[in-house]
Amino acid sequence: MTRRHLRVPVAAVLAAALLVAAAAQAQTQPRPARGASGSATRAAAPAASPPAAKGGAAEYAQRFAMVCAACHGGNGRSDMPGTPALAGQHSFYAVTQLFLFREGRRSNPAMSAVAKGFTDADLRGFSDHIGTLPPVPPPAPASPPDAARMKQGQALAKQHKCVFCHGDDLAGGQQVPRIGGQREEYLREVLQGYRSGQRVGYTQAMSEAVGQIPPAELDVLAYYASRVPVAGR
Ligand code: HEC
Ligand code: HEC
Repeated sequence: MTRRHLRVPVAAVLAAALLVAAAAQAQTQPRPARGASGSATRAAAPAASPPAAKGGAAEYAQRFAMVCAACHGGNGRSDMPGTPALAGQHSFYAVTQLFLFREGRRSNPAMSAVAKGFTDADLRGFSDHIGTLPPVPPPAPASPPDAARMKQGQALAKQHKCVFCHGDDLAGGQQVPRIGGQREEYLREVLQGYRSGQRVGYTQAMSEAVGQIPPAELDVLAYYASRVPVAGR
């Protein structure tokens, strides 16, 4: 399936996502009414198990631990192949991706099922939580990185302007994801996916960036990025 030439109305998608974000924010505002029953409810709450305020940060931290951590790890550093680290990822990037999964524009059996029923508040709540997870370096590799391959990767990242958007340290920012320290096999698959048109981005940025790069060079870039020392936000 090639969706590469599908024209994405970037402005419309962006506007929609910003509206989603705004709506989600608005939805998180209202607190349970402090009516006459308020004190009774509050007194009863500690006995019940999930006392978190609906839509609040605590609720999403708890839902992340219950639902997402099984695959992504409790601290956001997954040890499952093909499952990206979320630790140190930016909330604005996360919200765009959860939005794409929910709308069926980015597809993966696991994530499409997870995101299908998300409300706008869920998109925002989970993304905000991801944005609070500090970056976690990958476990120490079995063998030291191949110096020549690292050098080639660094040169390719400059030549193809990856560093222009993702930063010299590949830590990303805002809607540009952190790729430094990400799982290698995930990066490899994602880069080939953008190239073939199998992964459709939130904008055309990545399909344009990698469209002309030979697949073998993309694999070197994945090798390099996954081994770049993990920088702070
Ligand atoms: C059954 C395993 C599984 C569960 C549970 C799961 N995920 Fe994922 N998640 C994945 C996989 C696999 C991918 C990579 C999908 C791909 O390759 O396109 C992913 C991708 C993502 C991404 C995109 C990351 C990136 O770098 O582009 C985000 C954000 C995300 N998941 C958030 C969540 C949240 C929030 C939850 C809980 C509500 C969750 N996931 C639950 C397996 C899972
Ligand atoms: C013009 C800015 C720009 C350039 C140049 C660029 N990127 Fe990106 N990159 C982005 C944006 C924006 C995204 C998020 C795209 C989306 O919505 O899927 C992204 C996403 C990615 C992802 C997906 C990360 C994830 O967690 O799923 C990888 C990997 C990546 N870029 C690697 C690269 C590499 C390697 C290069 C150089 C060959 C590069 N990028 C060049 C802006 C850029």
